[in-house]
Formats: sequence, C-alpha cells, structure tokens
Amino acid sequence: MCGIFGFIGDRSAAPLLVEGLRRLEYRGYDSTGLVVKNGSLQMYKKVGKVTELSKILPNHIEGDTGIAHTRWATHGSVTDTNAHPHLNRDESIAVVHNGIIENFRSLKERLEARGMPLVSETDSEVLVHMITIGIESGQEPLEAVRQTLNRVTGTWGLCVLFKEHDLIVCARNGSPLIIGQGNGESFVSSDPHALSHHTQNMFILEDGDMAILTRNGIEISKLDGGSSSTSLTVLEDEWGEADMAGYPHYMLKEIHEQPEALRRCISGRLDKANGSARLGGLKLEPVRLRNAPLVRLIGCGTALNACKIGQLAIEILARIPAIAHVSSEFRYNDHVINPNAIHFAVSQSGETADTLSAVKEIQLKGGEVHGIINVVGSTIARLCGQGVYIHSGPEQAVASTKAFTNMVASLLLFAIRIGRTRSFSRERGRKIIESFEEIPKLMESYLSNPGPIDEAVELVKNAKSVMYLGRGLSAPVASEGALKMLELAYIPCLAYPAGEMKHGPIALLEEGSPVVVIAPNDKHREKTIASMHECKARGAKIIVIHEEGDIISDEADVAISIPSCDSLLSPLLSVLPTQLIAYRTALALGCDVDRPRNLAKSVTVE
Ligand code: F6R
Repeated sequence: MCGIFGFIGDRSAAPLLVEGLRRLEYRGYDSTGLVVKNGSLQMYKKVGKVTELSKILPNHIEGDTGIAHTRWATHGSVTDTNAHPHLNRDESIAVVHNGIIENFRSLKERLEARGMPLVSETDSEVLVHMITIGIESGQEPLEAVRQTLNRVTGTWGLCVLFKEHDLIVCARNGSPLIIGQGNGESFVSSDPHALSHHTQNMFILEDGDMAILTRNGIEISKLDGGSSSTSLTVLEDEWGEADMAGYPHYMLKEIHEQPEALRRCISGRLDKANGSARLGGLKLEPVRLRNAPLVRLIGCGTALNACKIGQLAIEILARIPAIAHVSSEFRYNDHVINPNAIHFAVSQSGETADTLSAVKEIQLKGGEVHGIINVVGSTIARLCGQGVYIHSGPEQAVASTKAFTNMVASLLLFAIRIGRTRSFSRERGRKIIESFEEIPKLMESYLSNPGPIDEAVELVKNAKSVMYLGRGLSAPVASEGALKMLELAYIPCLAYPAGEMKHGPIALLEEGSPVVVIAPNDKHREKTIASMHECKARGAKIIVIHEEGDIISDEADVAISIPSCDSLLSPLLSVLPTQLIAYRTALALGCDVDRPRNLAKSVTVE
C-alpha cells in the first residue's frame, strides 16, 4: 500500500527519491509525489505510475534533502491534489503520511475555523497545518510534530520536511518506518527493500518512536518525550539487492528462486538424527508442545492457504486439533482463547492489518502468538517476539510465490517437530526429513522442464471461469492456484475440495470448461480420478498436475508432471505449475503480472 522514501545527505536528492519510489512500486499505489528542499520546498505530484511523475520533473532539481510517497487511496479519490506530499499554506512545511487519522474530520473543522482551508480530501493534510501552528507559536520541529501527534488518533508512518531546518522529522505508530544510516547521509522508508542497496544499517522504529534525521546521524526518542530503546539492526544478506536478474518479471524470477529460498528456509532446521526439525526461534519447550490442546493458524490470502496445509499436516503428524482462520474474521468472531494453545500468525509482509489485529486479539485474551513471517523486523514479527522467519528474501511481485512455499515448509517443519513430541515415530520422521532435503533439487528439476504450461494456458485464457480441484493437502494447493489465476489474469476461479464439486459447483461445467486438478500419487488419488470423470462427463477439459510416471495423465487433456516425493511434501511441488499457468495466462492476456490492478503487496488497512 502507501510507501514512503526520504533522504538527507550531500547528494542530489531527486534521483534518489525517484529511485526509492520505483523500489516501492511493487507494493501497489495509484499516485506519487515528492518534495525537495533547496531554499524553497519544490513539490511535484501526479496520478499514475512513477514514470508519470518522472515526466513532469525538471531535468535537474537542486537540493540534497527530500521526501517522497506512493499513495494507495483511502480518504479521497485518486487525484493529483490528494497525492502526497502535502504542503502548508506558505509552503514551508511538507508531510508524507501512511496510515489513517481517525479524528481528521473534527481536526479539519477546527483548522478551517482558524482560517486554514484544506485543499485536499485526505485525512493526512490536517497534520501539516497542525504542525504549522506549532512552528508559528515558536516550537522546534520535533516538538511541533510531537504536539500534533498527541492530538491525533489513528496510525502513522510520518515524515516532515521544513524549509527552515536542515532535518527530517519522522514518527511511527502502527505503520512501519525504517531509518537507514549511511555515511554522512540518512534515509527513511516504510519498506526495507527501498533502503537495502544504500545501507544495511537500519533502525526499525517501534510504535511511539519519533526520529530526527540529519546528515550526521539519527536521534530517536519517544512520542511522550522519553527515551527509546530502538537500536541498530544490520539487515541480513538475503534482503540485499532485489533486481530482476535478467528475468522479464519479478514474479517469474521469484518462481525460479523457490529452490534457493527453500534451501535457506530449511537450512540448519532438519534434524536427521532424530527425524525431527529444529525451530529455535519458536522458544517452545517439548513439554509445552506435547501438552498443547490446539493449534490455531491465522493468515490472509496466500498465507491462509499455507495455514490450511499446516492445519492438515499438524493433525496428521501430531494428532491434535488444528484450525486455520481467516485473519479478517478472527477478531470479530470472539474465539475462546486457551492460553495453552499454540497460535501462529502467518504473513509474508508481517504488516497485514487483518493479521495484526488477530494477533492483538489473541494477546489481549491471554494467548501467546508465534510469527511465521518473511520480513525481518516487521510489525507482526516484533509483536509476536518469537517464531520462525521463513527466509524467502524480498518478494517484489504482488502475487506471492516463494513466500507461499516457505510458509508451507515452515509449517511442515513445525508439524514434524510437534509430532515428534507426541506419537509420530522417529523412523517416519527420518524419511520425511530425507525427502525434505531433496525438495529444492526436485523443484529445480521441475522448473527446468515445466511441461505443457502453454497448452494449459490455451484452455483457460478465454474461459468464463476456471475450476481448481484437489483433495487433502492438495485442496489448499487448488485454492492457491485459483487465487494466483484470478488475481493475475482476472479470470473468475473457483477452488473446491474435489469431493465437494458434485454438491454444487458441477452445475457450472459445460462443454470446454477448464478444470485444473491437483492429483499427486497419495491416498486420495482414486477418488480424485472419480471427480475427474465426473467433470469430463460434463464436457470439461481437464488439466491434471500429477506425479511423473502416473497413468492418471491418460485421463487428462493436458497433463503436467511433477517429480515424486513424500506425499506430505507434495504441495511444495504441485503448486509450481499453478504459479506458471497463472503467470503465463496473465501474460497472454496482456495483464500487468507484477502489479495486478487494485491489489497491494502489503495490505495495511482492515
Ligand atoms: C496473493 C497475495 C495476498 C497475500 C495476503 C497476505 O498472491 O499476495 O493474498 O497473501 O494479502 O499477505 P501477507 O502474507 O503479507 O500477510
């Protein structure tokens, strides 16, 4: 969603700001803007992509300090005026803001009563005028921002630039903000991706933190005036440069990064000797695992699909109830929280507002939550304080791929771990762990020869809708395949456990309807074949994803073969063709695969 980038140093700010905005593009946005300080504050903003903003920028903008923003509209329509930054009346102060100012209507009325008419429809604009009142009454910049924020309810990642002061003031509450410390220069962004090629040294602001950035350093304090405990974090290597590496799209690059990402995820975590997994970050003693009455898994979208696989695997291996929850529903369904239960919040970004609210709800009711998170130091990761980093590295395409496989892998490792504290045998554990170690290689082998993906694309690209079917662990894979297809190619998709198809969805099938069937060689295979027959009898065209050598391929119009592995691990391989089918269908239909319409990479509103 909205993104922030800011710079103060001895270099020309404008090119750095534009580059920062480009690195934020993957998050999804509808307008952009920047302001550079050089005697005056020069502001440029534009609806559309960063390229649209670049077109209105002069060839050279003097100035070594500036702030920039990508906006994803919440309050007010998508217009140049509503884009950030927002300036005050005499153009001496500029703000960029992520988050929501809940009491902005009453604040706006008060400002207007004081003769400060607001020019935009946004909630954010009130901030710049309130800060102005503080400055005009003699307050220093930090104090003026502090006093303003003390009158505001809502969330903010905020940067403020002052014509008369050589600094940037930043503040965070509920919307991420990360400060990068360079050599004689400082950066700020809502996203570590935008900073990581400038510096690995970062201060990840906590809620309630404020910061002053100058060329010479960074001072962090608390909104209430106290001192902050936020300290320097050195970003891990995997969060370094994230360019396209010769691929035409981030999504294709990330699909192909899955073997390496999975190696990172399982590295040091496979305990061959004990047929178990090591997940030290969980900080869960064997006795706690053994006695847990329930595991709840919470996520949205792709993370939810991973949770559903986790749920099944935990029940299969540990023989305790597990349940996957939709994050956005969790808080409102008033679930009974058992302090002995294990709760997982699963999220790539670690910033998803729905999942964050579920975490807070569980904590409020006395439960402990563990994160299964990609972005190190993200809000959910820090709120949980314990968990598993999935180590996918930066995921830039809006559609999640390598985070899905590593979420699934992490949950499978947990299922093995908790299973081994209960009745799951060491011998069976060893077999799965051995098979796990092979998966990255098998992924590579599949991706180097992905089979007749284009034939599948031909069947789906002009379809009214596509049905995805699977049983057991393959049912959530079907959901994930359908999610990828609908978000990228805008084709309506349905995903069903194959046996449920005959209870309703079968009515949709007609001559030529494409049905994607996920059919590894597991205990469900025969029943899945029966479902395929039911579809074929209604004229459906079948695309089957099957294990190599399986004659189930004879039943299909298009058969895509994946390597064989332990059936518990099959989702890690069977999801790959579904990603490629969605990717290539979107391309065939001329869609923007990396930045599909209306979507944002990190959904920070509920
Ligand atoms: C789908 C997709 C979304 C996210 C969802 C949760 O490709 O990317 O459905 O999975 O918004 O995001 P995170 O994992 O960041 O919490």
